[in-house]
Amino acid sequence: MIGGTAIKALLGPKWTTWARTVTRGMERPAWGNLRRVTPISARYGFDRGTPIDRYYVDKFFTAHRDAITGRVIEIQTRDHIRRYGSGIVAADTLDIDPSFQPTHCCDLAHADRVPSGSYDCFLLPNTLCFLRNLDASLREARRIVRPGGIILATVPGFVPLTADVEDYWHASAAGWRVVAARVWPDCDTTVESHGNCLAAAAAMYGIAVEELTAAELDVHDPRYPVLVTIACRTR
Ligand SMILES: C[S@@+](CC[C@H](N)C(=O)[O-])C[C@H]1O[C@@H](n2cnc3c(N)ncnc32)[C@H](O)[C@@H]1O
Repeated sequence: MIGGTAIKALLGPKWTTWARTVTRGMERPAWGNLRRVTPISARYGFDRGTPIDRYYVDKFFTAHRDAITGRVIEIQTRDHIRRYGSGIVAADTLDIDPSFQPTHCCDLAHADRVPSGSYDCFLLPNTLCFLRNLDASLREARRIVRPGGIILATVPGFVPLTADVEDYWHASAAGWRVVAARVWPDCDTTVESHGNCLAAAAAMYGIAVEELTAAELDVHDPRYPVLVTIACRTR
């Protein structure tokens, strides 16, 4: 009689795993066109439809639309203020890159030109991962929002890194809670993750939202943070 060890040695690791999955009735991958080392879209799915993380970005800002009011500031453009805001008194922008013609052209980590407490709401869609001096930037974000105002941020997790700029921080919800406790110790901050293994795989391949269903995207598995959302109510 040949033992398990002898069979493994005879088959080698590849066929041992194959035999194990077959004899134990385990699911085997049907790769189709997914057995590849390059994504289906190199543009996060923008060329096919809506990138997967944007599904969760939209849900987050829609859920907080009542707070996007009054004097609002956004990084880079006014896109999210226009889409989700109401009762807007000021729609300003801040960016380090002058090509966006921001209201405040500066590094958020050194935003002394922006008066303290001058905004009701600060929108940071998919931005935190690019802030080299993260802690100083987040402390400044809080400084320019009035007490009782709100900072709304979304951060990509399991999505491809951005190639043409430095993309520093892709943390879990637990990681962002540690950051929030460090930089905003006296605020009411809620950090949540969104996504599941299918959404994460789709995001990595550049498959679009329109190619999955809402029921699939809405399944929450905290082990697969496609997007992390942060709502910080200042005091
Ligand atoms: C991905 S974009 C912002 C989100 C974009 N509107 C979106 O919806 O995906 C990131 C922006 O942050 C800006 N940025 C990066 N580092 C910065 C810093 N330290 N201070 C201010 N802006 C910064 C970049 O110039 C860029 O315009």
